Amino acid sequence: KSISTIHINGKDFKSDDYSNITPKILTYLGRNLHLQKGNPLSMVRQRIVNYFYKSFTHRGNPIFSIYDNLSPIVTVKQNFDDLLIPLHHPSRAKQDCYYINKDLLFRAHMTAHQSELLRAGLNNFLMIGDVYRRDEIDSTHFPVFHQVDAVRSQRKEELFNSNPDLEIFEPSFDTKKPKVLNDITDSSKQSCHTLEATKLMETQLKSHLIGLIQALFGKDIKYRWVDAYFPFTHPSWELEIFYENKWMEVLGCGIVRNEILAAAGPNNSIAYAFGLGLERLAMALYNIPDIRLMWSKDSGFLNQFANKDVDAKITYKPISLYPQCVNDISFWLPNDLTIDTFMSNDFYDLVRDIGGDIIEQVKLKDKFVHPKTKKHSVCYSIVYRHLERTLTQFEVNKIHKEIEKAVTDSYNVVIR
Ligand code: PHE
Repeated sequence: KSISTIHINGKDFKSDDYSNITPKILTYLGRNLHLQKGNPLSMVRQRIVNYFYKSFTHRGNPIFSIYDNLSPIVTVKQNFDDLLIPLHHPSRAKQDCYYINKDLLFRAHMTAHQSELLRAGLNNFLMIGDVYRRDEIDSTHFPVFHQVDAVRSQRKEELFNSNPDLEIFEPSFDTKKPKVLNDITDSSKQSCHTLEATKLMETQLKSHLIGLIQALFGKDIKYRWVDAYFPFTHPSWELEIFYENKWMEVLGCGIVRNEILAAAGPNNSIAYAFGLGLERLAMALYNIPDIRLMWSKDSGFLNQFANKDVDAKITYKPISLYPQCVNDISFWLPNDLTIDTFMSNDFYDLVRDIGGDIIEQVKLKDKFVHPKTKKHSVCYSIVYRHLERTLTQFEVNKIHKEIEKAVTDSYNVVIR
């Protein structure tokens, strides 16, 4: 089954065996929730922008430029290669991204624009937009979500303005040959950077981000830093906040790998970068229990945010929670597949293509191997819930039957 072109926004793209964009995913393109006045994501975006505008000024003018309207269609080079993500890194897998074809995809993170904006000569900027990832289905995961990414770079004179004796780069490092000698085996810094520069950047990065989190949640917010790894930063950290009795990761950050800066232009500065998820912040800030609500066009939801000051304290009140319907689906996998090789993300996409936004969750309930035939069997519970009305068992059964049929047709499985 091979189609040769895909239509997106009136444009034709060549398709190939990488193409895995679903019709459902195309319907989210261009919604730009982060720019819709009165959408909670847009309100959090505005508060973050205000914080950076207010905190970083030069002669009274904000120094961060904002990019919130960049096309989500990016090249593999932008999303991965430019960011030093290795060729076989799992984040490149078809299983995790929405590819238009082998060269183009819907960006999986806003960091995809970092190199092009550095190349354009920018030092301090925010990139805000929708990102696309194939993932499991539950109340905090949706295949489209929104990120704010940032880069802040400084030259020696800025970073060490009160300490002109200190350097950004180790004396042994030749900034004209940025590839030479830069390795990341030392967990505290990149080999090209001095420890002083790295530590000062780390202190600034962390205090700017804690300032942001406190501006959003108040001074009492409980948080912790966790060491992390990203191919494009070193060292790297994640920030977690304590929410509903659990630690919740809200952002990743670190010191930009010098190779990226040097390839894009500035070879005399050091930069930090971070990327944070707007949905999680908005859910925690406004007490929104389900990520699908961000996409709601229902006035019962939108009116709770409409015409409010961005800094107003809003607590979302569910209009009512309509009941769930849970139907199980069990099937035998074809002989050549095991539970581990069955492409569950393909299955999740298929379920969502047919059921749409009434799919609240798909969870693996049971699996086993038949002792004689050695065939693998899986059982998933599909949780259906409409956010705006009660679903009847009759209509759910109808959709469930369609899902069974589609699964049978697409994967050569046998429904039990
Ligand atoms: N792009 C990373 C993600 O999506 C976040 C990140 C951005 C981490 C910039 C470090 C620096 O998880």
